[in-house]
Amino acid sequence: MTREPEAPLDPPSQYGGFRREAPITRISLGPGAPTAWLVTRWEDARAVLANPATSTDLSRPGYPSRTPMSMPPGFFLFQDNPIHDVFRKVLTREFMVKRIEALREATARIFDGLMDELVVHRPVADLVEAVALPLPSLVISELLGVPYEDHVFFQEHSKVLIDNTVTGAQKAAAQGALGDYLETLVERRRKEPRDDLITRLGQQVDAGTFTTRDAADVGAFLLFAGHETTANMIGLGVLALLEHPDQLPRLYAGKAELATAIEELLRYLTIAQSGLARVAIEDFTVDETTIQAGDGLIIMLNSANRDEAIFSATADELDLGRANARQHVAFGYGIHQCLGQPLARMELQVVLPELFRRLPNLRVADRQEVIYKPHAAAYGPALLPVTW
Ligand code: HEM
Repeated sequence: MTREPEAPLDPPSQYGGFRREAPITRISLGPGAPTAWLVTRWEDARAVLANPATSTDLSRPGYPSRTPMSMPPGFFLFQDNPIHDVFRKVLTREFMVKRIEALREATARIFDGLMDELVVHRPVADLVEAVALPLPSLVISELLGVPYEDHVFFQEHSKVLIDNTVTGAQKAAAQGALGDYLETLVERRRKEPRDDLITRLGQQVDAGTFTTRDAADVGAFLLFAGHETTANMIGLGVLALLEHPDQLPRLYAGKAELATAIEELLRYLTIAQSGLARVAIEDFTVDETTIQAGDGLIIMLNSANRDEAIFSATADELDLGRANARQHVAFGYGIHQCLGQPLARMELQVVLPELFRRLPNLRVADRQEVIYKPHAAAYGPALLPVTW
């Protein structure tokens, strides 16, 4: 299903019909792929995502993908329990609100530096290239403890990792280089510990919980999971706010109001546009539909987040003051619910108000030139020319 060209911030309109008439329905994923259940309502989405009879293991038969593969343990989104929880338990501490708050100042500093460079490009700059993409990876390098002198190397390779225009070989080379780099860094921090995430991952290697490779993979996975996702939310967030200038004051009305506004943007924009994939490992029932072991499921978060049963008749509208915005499932649900959500929230709370404060006349330079990523797993602008 494709979005309406005139409504690039809305999910494809067909989902409303599915929610009303066929909320759990069999769909084809194209030639060579198994069929899967499409889950479109909020309540069913949460029920499936919280069900321990589902798996994210890409190598299981029936997993709704054309290319079955297995992922290393450090990419723990694709691991079932007990392996998943071993990684998640170690990392949960790293994403606690207190740790993330400690990064707020660094995030503001990184943002300021990027903005100083952006304004040089007057009259037009690409907000994606100048701010939205570099900011999250610079913040993650800060979180991991990548030394300042290696930021350029880290940045260059992480850029390739999420670039849809490069070849598979280029991507694999970048992934290999980053993996090797992180492995060396883990070894270095085991000998010279510091107060950073890489050091603490190294301590897990000493304790025998992880291998050095696992620790490096975790670092690479965090970068992968937290880079383009946040970047897309920055780009789309700016576009949504520019379309609703009357609501901009909500960003400055207080801490709680800003937090609610960001939740509403996450709900309204739901960047995980291709849904979350699962495969059933046992038979179970959801809303009177029997799912059998081996059946694939695609859980459409963007549809669930526009469900009128939860978000009322105004579900399709952006309302930065929406009282129950935080009930959204933009970060998923269940054991794999986004680990990085406190970080993503903090970054958006820093960037969006500051951007409009620094550039009060910010606007899209030419709407025809905005390029979206209609087929990417995470939706957002690939090119966003702005002027101010
Ligand atoms: C606005 C930005 C973000 C959005 C919308 C987002 C969305 C999601 C979603 C929907 C999932 C669940 C996937 C599934 O169940 O199949 C997820 C998982 C995950 N996210 Fe995020 N994410 C964002 C930012 C981040 C950041 C900044 C990080 C870390 C630096 C991060 C790290 C992760 C990790 C590690 C998982 C896997 C968790 C697990 O399996 O236990 N994400 N994210």
